[in-house]
Amino acid sequence: MKLLFLNGVNLNRTGMRERGVYGTQTLEEINGEIERYCKARGCESEFFQSNAEGEICTKIQMTDADGIVLNAGAYTHYSYAIRDAIASVDTPVVEVHMSNVHAREAFRHTSVISEVCRGTILGFGKNSYILAAESFLL
Ligand code: DQA
Repeated sequence: MKLLFLNGVNLNRTGMRERGVYGTQTLEEINGEIERYCKARGCESEFFQSNAEGEICTKIQMTDADGIVLNAGAYTHYSYAIRDAIASVDTPVVEVHMSNVHAREAFRHTSVISEVCRGTILGFGKNSYILAAESFLL
């Protein structure tokens, strides 16, 4: 089993932006923890982050992973391109958010990708990624 952890726009600023919302750990540190967790569960992991919508679509199209854990960041709320990329492949995708988007601004309450994802996990900080990974490993 191989999982791709795919982070979208502004997630490279994790640990530096809005620390009260996203925590103080960098994405690199969080990915290190996820990698160790996956290894302990006998699962291979790959990590990719991009601020570019098209690069995220290409990664979804080209991946050889068995599943994708996707935090698309703000693209979640309006990217029909990422939605269509997910719909175009057989690889299952679990949508994740570190924050509870439903407890935040109204524009975050809409996800245009949820409909084409296997499920959504949100509100558990960095553990949202771990819980999403676990959904593939149960
Ligand atoms: C986020 C929530 C989004 O609304 C926001 O634009 C992000 C991060 C989260 O992980 O909580 O960049 O996806």
